[in-house]
Amino acid sequence: MNDKENFLTEIDSGDEPLSNRSDNEHFVSILERRLSRREVLTGSLGAAVATVFGLPGLVEQAEAKKFPSTTGLPVPAKPSFSLNPVLNFEAIPVSRSDTAVIPQGYKAQALIPWGEPLTGSYPEFDSIDGNSGEEQEQQVGSHHDGMHYFPFNDDPNGHGLLCVNHEYVDQRVLHPAGPSFVDGMRPTDEVRKEIAAHGVSVVELQKNSASGAWHVIRGAYNRRITAGTEMAISGPVRGSDLVKTRFSPDGTRARGTINNCAHGYTAWNTYLTCEENWAGYFNNQIKQVRADALLNWFEANEPGRYPGPKVSFTQGRYYARYYPETDRIIGIFDEIHDQKVTNHVYTQLGSTFNDEERESLGTMAILLARAGIRDDLELTQPREFSRYGVRTTGSRYSWEKAQSGEDHYVRFDASIKGSRATRDYRNEPNTMGWVVEIDPFDPNSMPKKRTALGRFAHEGCWMAPPQPGKPVVFYMGDDARDEYIYKFVTKARYNSQHDNRDILDEGTLYVARFYDNGTGEWLALDINDRYFRAMSISKGIYFLDQADVLVNTRLAADVVGATKMDRPEWGAVHPQTREVYMTLTNNSNRTADNVDAANPRGPNPYGHIIRWRERGNQSWATRFEWDLFVLAGPEFDSQILPGQGGPGLTQDNIFASPDGLWIDQNGILWIQTDMSGAQQAQGPFGANAMLAANPVTGEIKRFLSGPVEQETTGVVSTPDGKTLFVNFQHPGDRSLPGQFTSNWPDSGAVYRHPSQAIVVADPNGPRPRSATLVITREDDGVVGL
Ligand code: FEO
Ligand code: CA
Ligand code: CA
Repeated sequence: MNDKENFLTEIDSGDEPLSNRSDNEHFVSILERRLSRREVLTGSLGAAVATVFGLPGLVEQAEAKKFPSTTGLPVPAKPSFSLNPVLNFEAIPVSRSDTAVIPQGYKAQALIPWGEPLTGSYPEFDSIDGNSGEEQEQQVGSHHDGMHYFPFNDDPNGHGLLCVNHEYVDQRVLHPAGPSFVDGMRPTDEVRKEIAAHGVSVVELQKNSASGAWHVIRGAYNRRITAGTEMAISGPVRGSDLVKTRFSPDGTRARGTINNCAHGYTAWNTYLTCEENWAGYFNNQIKQVRADALLNWFEANEPGRYPGPKVSFTQGRYYARYYPETDRIIGIFDEIHDQKVTNHVYTQLGSTFNDEERESLGTMAILLARAGIRDDLELTQPREFSRYGVRTTGSRYSWEKAQSGEDHYVRFDASIKGSRATRDYRNEPNTMGWVVEIDPFDPNSMPKKRTALGRFAHEGCWMAPPQPGKPVVFYMGDDARDEYIYKFVTKARYNSQHDNRDILDEGTLYVARFYDNGTGEWLALDINDRYFRAMSISKGIYFLDQADVLVNTRLAADVVGATKMDRPEWGAVHPQTREVYMTLTNNSNRTADNVDAANPRGPNPYGHIIRWRERGNQSWATRFEWDLFVLAGPEFDSQILPGQGGPGLTQDNIFASPDGLWIDQNGILWIQTDMSGAQQAQGPFGANAMLAANPVTGEIKRFLSGPVEQETTGVVSTPDGKTLFVNFQHPGDRSLPGQFTSNWPDSGAVYRHPSQAIVVADPNGPRPRSATLVITREDDGVVGL
C-alpha cells in the first residue's frame, strides 16, 4: 500500500480537543509592537526594560528567533556513550495476529489482566455477567499504561511491587451490555465500577524459581487507588482558593486520580502517576458573557440590585454567568476575586444572585434586552477550564449523573450551584491535572498531588539519575497538539541517606523553547522570576500568586513563548549520559507553513523522537543542545538520525505514533507505539508494537507486536534485565457489547513466534482484557541483548 492518505486517518486518537490558541510563534512581533524593533536591537528601550526587570536574556532571545534556520537539521556534538548495546535478536515482521508476537528464543505469559482479584475478598473476574462496582474496587483496573517495578531486597529479580496505571475504560467492554441511562441518569453501580476501574494497582509479584512463571502474592502490599481515593493536595496550590470545594473547604484534599497515563518513579522508592486527559471527565454547564455594560446598567438604573462587592464598573472586564438550559442568570463575576488586578484574569469565584433575585431578574435574554446590550455576548469559560478543554456539553462518562446523586459523583459537575466555591464543585477540575506521588511500600499512605510540577495533560514524569548534593530533575510532556515540554528542578538537594519525602513540593517549573539552530533553553514559570513577570506584563496576562501560575500552567507557558510541540508523550533519561529522549507522537494540527526544526513535518501523521543534552551535562541547566533521533513513518517518509543523514526505516522497523519510551540499564532505547485503530488497520505498520533501538548507532529493530487494536504502553524490567514487563492496553477497543474484535489474552495462544500461524479473533469469544505481558528468554539471558 502506498497511498499516503490512507495512513493519515484518525491520527489523533487519544488526544483531547485542541485548546492552545496562543500565538507563540509571533513572539518577536509582540515584542516589536511593544518595544520597537530598533529599540530592542539597539538596546535602548530593551535595556530599559531589562534594567527594570533584570532581563539579560531578553534581547538575545528576540534575536535568536529572528533568524529561523530552515535549512538542514541540527547536529549536536556526538554523545560520548559507553553503553553501545548490540541488539542480538531477529526483528519480527509487521503483524496483525490477535496475539503477542515475539522473536525466536523468547517466551511470554500474560499477568494481572483487568479484573484479576487483588485485595479484600478477592472476587473472581466474571466475564459473562460482569462484576459489581464493589468487586471492581478489589480487582485490577482496566487499560494498563505506565508502570514501574520496585524490587524487594530479599530477591530483587524475583520479588517486587509492580505499580500499574489504569488510564481509562471502554464502557462497551467493561459492562456486559455496555453503558446505560435511565431517565437521563446513569445506574449508580455502573458509575461506581467505572471509577473503580481507573487509577493505579500496586501488586506484589513473585517468580516461581522452578517454572520461572510470575504470580500475584495475596498480601498486604496489594492496593487499589481509584478515581475515588482520597488524596492530599501538596505544594504551592495547597489551600489556594482555586481548589476549595464542598469536600475540602480549606483546599487541602481531593478525591481520586483520573486518566493516569504514564508515570515516573523517584530515587526514594515512590511511584508517580500522571493525570493526562482529565478535562473531559467534567462538565461545566455554566456559560458566561461579558458583563461590563450590564454592570454599568445596574449601577445607573437599578442601584443596589447587584449583590456583589462595590467595585468600579467603569474599568476591567466582568462576566455574567447563566445556566444555558434555563437562561437564568447566576451572578456577575469580576475577573479576579479581589479586584487587585483587572485585565484578562477571571476565575469561577464571584458573587451570585439568590433564587429570589434570580427570579425577579428574569432570563439572561430579557435582562440583556432591558439593558439594551447587543454587542457584549462574548461566550467564554474560566481560563483554568478553557485552556484545558473542560466541556460544556456533557462529560465523557456522565459520572455526575449517577442516580444516587451522592456527593462523590455530583462533583464531576463543575457548574456553579452554590453561593460560593465551598458549597459546590466549581473548582473540582482544578484538583486534576497533577503528578501524584504514591508510596507503594506503605499501603496506608495517602497519595499526594504534587502541584509544584504544574497542571496540564501530564503524560509522565521522568527523573534524571539523581546526584547527591544536587537538585533532583524531572522531565514531563503535555500530550496535546501544540503543547509543551516541561522540567522541574527541586529546590532542595538530593540526599541519598536522608528523607527526601516532600522534596517535590518546592522547586522551579520550566518550559522548553527549541531554537532552530539546535540549541534551546528552559524558561522558568515562576511569579518571582523577572523574565516571567516582564513577559506577563507585556502580554497583559496576570497571575495572583504562584498557585494561580501552577493551576494555569499552560497559560504561563504561553506567556514566556514556549515552543509548540507535536504532542509530547513519554520521555526517557539515559542512565549514563543523562541525555533525554522524548516521543512526539503526531500532530494533525501542524501545517506546512508552521513547521520548525524541532517539529519539521506539517501535518505530522507519523511522529518523531527528539533528544537533548543539558549544558555541562547538568540536568538542572537552563540551556541545552538538541537533535532529532528518528522521523517515524513508512519507508518513503522516514529517517533515522536525520541531522546526520541517516537511512529511512525498513520492513524491520517501520512504525508510527511513538508513545512509550524507556532506556534500560544496558542502554537499549525501547520505543512503543500508539497508532489509532485506522492507522493499524489501513497503514503498512500492522499492530501497535515495541521496537528496540541503539541510541549510538541509530539501529532500530521491531521486538514485539501486540493483539488486535491494543496500544503497547508501559515497559520496565527486573534489575538483572532478564524479565521484561510490557502492557497491552485496550485489545479489541472497537468491540461492541458481546461482539469482540479481540479475545486476548483469554483465548488461544498468548504469544506466537513469526513462523507460527496467525490467530484471528472470534466475535463470540472471550471478552478482551488489558494485561501485562511478561517476557523472558528461553535461555534465561538478558532481554534484547
Ligand atoms: Fe495517554 Fe498521551 O497517552
Ligand atoms: Ca501514552
Ligand atoms: Ca498516545
